[in-house]
Amino acid sequence: MNSVWGTPLTPAEQTSVPLAVTEPPLTIGSRTMPSRYFLAPLAGYTHLAFRTALRELGGLGLATTDLVQATMLLSGRRKSMELITTSPADRPLSVQIFSGRPEELVRAAKWLEDAGYEGIDLNMGCPMAKVNGQGGGARLMCDTSGATRLVAGVVNAVRIPVTVKMRLGWDADNLTAPALARAFEQEGVSAVTVHGRTRQQGFHGGVDLDGIAATVDAVESIPIVGNGDVRTVEDAQRMRTVTGCAAVAIGRGAMLDPWLFRKLQDVVERGQSPREPTSDEQIDFLVRHFTLMTEQHGDYSCTLFRKFAGWYGARLGVPEDLEDRLRRFTSADEFHAIVEQIRERHGERESTIATALVKVPNGPVERW
Ligand SMILES: Cc1cc2nc3c(=O)[nH]c(=O)nc-3n(C[C@H](O)[C@H](O)[C@H](O)COP(=O)(O)O)c2cc1C
Repeated sequence: MNSVWGTPLTPAEQTSVPLAVTEPPLTIGSRTMPSRYFLAPLAGYTHLAFRTALRELGGLGLATTDLVQATMLLSGRRKSMELITTSPADRPLSVQIFSGRPEELVRAAKWLEDAGYEGIDLNMGCPMAKVNGQGGGARLMCDTSGATRLVAGVVNAVRIPVTVKMRLGWDADNLTAPALARAFEQEGVSAVTVHGRTRQQGFHGGVDLDGIAATVDAVESIPIVGNGDVRTVEDAQRMRTVTGCAAVAIGRGAMLDPWLFRKLQDVVERGQSPREPTSDEQIDFLVRHFTLMTEQHGDYSCTLFRKFAGWYGARLGVPEDLEDRLRRFTSADEFHAIVEQIRERHGERESTIATALVKVPNGPVERW
């Protein structure tokens, strides 16, 4: 079997693009990507500190900020400014914006270009009511010509690459991603990321790799970035081979295993076996993540870190009393004292796969 990874390929996979071990670097518009494995935005998680800590592990290509509302950006809201905060090490980066109002989207894109940002990602995939209520997000996928006009307005207003992130369509009867991707390409969009579910599916059901493949087939030459449910090296390879996509965006899988990008680099670029992180490396990552958070947020990081406590606790097998303390500490000194105890006692509890700790919409997606 011609699988690079040892897993036999199905007949459908054998007819699709084989994964070359030495691939040329991927370019998106004017930017060359250090890797074909990207970080998909997870609002509330993929902030500067997490992105930076992840980049330091190696193997990460493009990262994208959390979704930023164009109106909020233009009015200089503190929350929006925090979301777009970056650093020289946080490259390559795109800022993701949304709005149902074309002129606002154009103004926000120009503002970002003037401020020195190097890429803009337009969100058309978010199932959140507050996004769709504004006419932004996935609702745009129902209006091909409106969405194309909106995208064209942004592409024509800036020189930096503009990409789009979307779902397969609104629902199973409206799988518009292939037609939209083609139309966007003709307007000058540099790449399109497709989460292989419909808006109606929310986060339920499986990712439809054939739907992503249809989008790949629909465009002439721009990269399509496959997204959805990639948790392992094998998942990433399956995404590439079955869909023929040029790159893969990984969201929850990056939380579950921040070393996934490094593993992909080991396997794909170096032809080596993927290295698992040692316990010390995992604890060092926790410390680095928190330290980077304090550089941006100071003491408020103690509060912000709470949402990660359960995840690190599960991943590192941190005893429950220490995990509880990770949720309550109020100073950096206290954090480091807890970490010392984690170094001594981690593994007392069995470590578990912590995917469930990244909250996804539960129930009707309108309520997310
Ligand atoms: C908590 C959470 C927050 C998300 N925030 C964003 C966002 O800000 N912008 C966006 O385009 N997608 C967002 N997504 C969707 C992800 O980028 C991704 O498309 C989806 O989770 C599927 O990929 P995954 O299985 O690799 O996580 C979010 C998903 C989750 C679970």
